[in-house]
Amino acid sequence: MCGIVGYLGKGIAQDSLIDGLRRLEYRGYDSAGVAFHEGNAFSMTRETGRVKNLANLVKRKSSKSSLGIAHTRWATHGSVTVSNTHPHVSHDGKFVMVHNGVIENFGTFKRFLTNKGIKFSSETDSEVLCNLIAYHYSELPDGDDRFVDAIRQALPKCRGAYGVAVLCLDYPDTMIGARRGSPLVVGLGDDANFIASDASAFVGRAKEAVFLNDGELAILNGSDFRITNLEGQEAQAVALPVDQISEEVELGDFDSYMEKEIYEQPTALKNTLRGRFGDDGTTSKLGGLEGHDEVLRDLDRIIFVACGTARHACMVGEYLIERLARVPVEVEHASEFRYRNSPKAGKSLVIAVSQSGETLDTLEAVRESKTKGLLTLGITNVVGSSLARETDGGVYQRVGPEIGVASTKAFSSQVCLCAMLGLALGRMRDLSPMDGQSIVEALNQLPGLVAQVLQQGEQIRELAIKYSKAEHLLFLGRQSLYPVALEGALKLKEISYAHAEGYPAAELKHGPIALINPECPSVFIVEGSDLSAKTIANMQEVKARNGPVLAIAPHSVEIPEEAADDVFLLPDSHEVVRPILANLPLQLFAYHFARLRGLDVDKPRNLAKSVTVE
Ligand code: F6R
Repeated sequence: MCGIVGYLGKGIAQDSLIDGLRRLEYRGYDSAGVAFHEGNAFSMTRETGRVKNLANLVKRKSSKSSLGIAHTRWATHGSVTVSNTHPHVSHDGKFVMVHNGVIENFGTFKRFLTNKGIKFSSETDSEVLCNLIAYHYSELPDGDDRFVDAIRQALPKCRGAYGVAVLCLDYPDTMIGARRGSPLVVGLGDDANFIASDASAFVGRAKEAVFLNDGELAILNGSDFRITNLEGQEAQAVALPVDQISEEVELGDFDSYMEKEIYEQPTALKNTLRGRFGDDGTTSKLGGLEGHDEVLRDLDRIIFVACGTARHACMVGEYLIERLARVPVEVEHASEFRYRNSPKAGKSLVIAVSQSGETLDTLEAVRESKTKGLLTLGITNVVGSSLARETDGGVYQRVGPEIGVASTKAFSSQVCLCAMLGLALGRMRDLSPMDGQSIVEALNQLPGLVAQVLQQGEQIRELAIKYSKAEHLLFLGRQSLYPVALEGALKLKEISYAHAEGYPAAELKHGPIALINPECPSVFIVEGSDLSAKTIANMQEVKARNGPVLAIAPHSVEIPEEAADDVFLLPDSHEVVRPILANLPLQLFAYHFARLRGLDVDKPRNLAKSVTVE
């Protein structure tokens, strides 16, 4: 949610900043801007639209500055205009700042500063914060620490979330970053250091990354840096190598990250699974859960908290874990859980699932759970993310960076990890070694089966061509395929803007069937169990009302000719991996459907990856 990158080094800042913005563009692409310290003033360039618009302008100006900050915006306060675009400069021209997050009490500061005669040129909370820092600076005596002290005085007054990078005209060799709620990371290179909202911004330019914790400041001065808290005490800086995230962020031969990430799934899942089974081949072994055996063995309830696609993965997890381990599972919208006083029942475990590990709603749900004394575990893809750091334990997805705004490979690996967790918990209870073994085998076969389904991509493209005129679609499935129906509908609507709804197949007759007409196709995801006969009956109900039907079904399930207009066949598989396989054609369907409409699938309107505001 908005991307920040700052450069302080020996070279020219411009190229690193524009390159960083391009890599961060998935976080927001309403507008972008850059500011350079030019000795006696800041030079600013800001433009609405994509980073490429900004890049053209910046290239023409060709700044030689070696200190600058840049931002790509996902609008929160104020519409998409040049004046609302970051960076924001203070009224006296002394400070320039980029900001992610939302300052909830900015109105109070705005009134205070307006009464002091300060005029604002944007509608943003960020410009207010920049001026608040400038105000405190004006009240402080001269000295080496005046810049950092002004920030230390302003930030504790703010309610809400921030990740900021700030420059001061009087300090031509200093850049300061601070975070609370919005991620921020320092990149350390040979010739330059960076501040960014995520490490992909400085891949190839920095060797090490230091992730800031909430309430910390990073003070970059020349080639030195230090981390302190807001009170000025030194904090520990743990540097991680950056090369692990390296070229995985390159697009290669693909047209879009979404397509690349869909086709990466066989490898991604191999990585999720690698080395995570017990030696006897009947259970899974998740390192991040070690040390919690006693709690896991004794659980009364699991509460999943997550948002969007990650929540759909948890819903699949609910079916799988209840089936394998017989532990009651609840899945909560993280944003709702936080404000709901859910009763403390028995021994509960909270599992937060988030690809980015930075979704604020999910993090707040974790914080609320910890306040209540609950054990929290995280499933996340991003090493060093806030979720990874704030939970009591957890598991990494290991699928490599997911850049496409529409989550694809992350969903598959989250479901896979839920199945592995169900297996581990089941084997601690009454799941037999034989059942355990067959699940281990099914999981090991998963990457191969995924590759097999993806090879049928052309058939999905043809189906997408056939149905691409539809403006309303229904997605229907039962049991663990019901969340897959929800996910199929979400994927389609978020990137193609067609209206799509997911329902449990049997719910159709309780309302949604009223929507059925020849212009409203229904996509049925058919199980390979006894229930498939019931789903086929639901398909026939749609056909009887002249609704087009596309069925996604395992090979061995016979779909009567009169029940579906089109059938996409999946390989027969174990029930624990079926939701992952069934979701693949839906990912591809959404992808082609949107492309056929000429849309940019990686940057759907109004969306951004990693939502770090409430
Ligand atoms: C949909 C999508 C979103 C995210 C949601 C949670 O394709 O990507 O619904 O799943 O914003 O994000 P994470 O998993 O980063 O917490």
